[in-house]
Amino acid sequence: QPLNPKMEESSVLRRADCRAKGGAPGFKVAILGAAGGIGQPLAMLMKMNPLVSVLHLYDVVNAPGVTADLSHMDTGAVVRGFLGQPQLENALTGMDLVIIPAGVPRKPGMTRDDLFNINAGIVRTLCEGVAKCCPNAIVNLISNPVNSTVPIAAEVFKKAGTYDPKRLLGVTTLDVVRANTFVAEVLGLDPREVNVPVVGGHSGVTILPLLSQVKPPCSFTPEETDYLTNRIQNGGTEVVEAKAGAGSATLSMAYAAVKFADACLRGLRGDAGIVECAFVASEVTELPFFATKVRLGRTGAEEIYPLGPLNEYERMGLEKAKQELAGSIQKGITFIKK
Ligand code: NAD
Ligand code: LMR
Repeated sequence: QPLNPKMEESSVLRRADCRAKGGAPGFKVAILGAAGGIGQPLAMLMKMNPLVSVLHLYDVVNAPGVTADLSHMDTGAVVRGFLGQPQLENALTGMDLVIIPAGVPRKPGMTRDDLFNINAGIVRTLCEGVAKCCPNAIVNLISNPVNSTVPIAAEVFKKAGTYDPKRLLGVTTLDVVRANTFVAEVLGLDPREVNVPVVGGHSGVTILPLLSQVKPPCSFTPEETDYLTNRIQNGGTEVVEAKAGAGSATLSMAYAAVKFADACLRGLRGDAGIVECAFVASEVTELPFFATKVRLGRTGAEEIYPLGPLNEYERMGLEKAKQELAGSIQKGITFIKK
């Protein structure tokens, strides 16, 4: 909570006035799980984003500490902290974008699906809050297992009568970030010049990098294709094992989450040609959800792109991905419908 609410309110108004004069939109963004391993660096990076005017930080622990700390940064966004369930509604009211990294992370030996029992309930509660307090917000869902938590969120919104598939996006940007990095290493390029579409979902074989569609155009030997596909699919496990019980990817995830959130905000602003991969409701395959490239606009994921031409290796990968995804999606749907 602000130390001096009057002073804070007038500061928000003055900043909003400055933005209006400069023609710059300021979006209101909430992070749910803001005191966590991802939440803290994500909150810091969003506090530095010039498109953000108000940043709400919600968690069940330590939200006031993180908020006090970040509020001293001399960047434009006003930060407010919200602690615990009774403050969830205030955290969400009026938000344009809600980013959700709340939930437990993996330890070595676990799959993302092993997190389902705890994280499914957390995501359900938080999405009920979104449906009630900011039903028109764009939701960026990070909590694992993404392949199931996105269907959970969709069912919660359907139940509440607020579901708009364009506004619900599972964040798979870290897979693309990793793919760009590993492919650039193999090609001897700067990763910023490389773009690898990664489709399917966000777990093991459901993470399907389309190496035949890498930009700039290039080719790989069968050994390179195997190495890259395995490394991209197991990037999360590589970090979980290196952290040896202290959690999963947080810093690279915060970077990826901000990359994706910034793309959503630029889409909301009306910028043209904003394209990112995300796990969304989709008719690209027979499955109800699938990650592909999407075009982000004023209303969320406004266009979902087809897979494009796949080679034999990718077609085989697609079949495996769909098989696993089908079960994970159904598990999420059943959790709410049962
Ligand atoms: P963490 O344990 O460090 O932080 C999670 C935070 O969530 C904690 O601060 C905790 O207090 C908070 N939290 C728990 N229950 C909550 C609730 N009901 N409401 C609000 N906040 C709540 O974990 P982390 O490393 O930040 O990871 C968070 C989640 O993100 C995990 O499920 C992890 O698997 C997932 N993740 C996803 C990706 C991806 O690519 N989508 C990448 C990395 C991690
Ligand atoms: C990742 O890909 O790093 C995340 O999904 C976290 C994990 O459990 O691997």
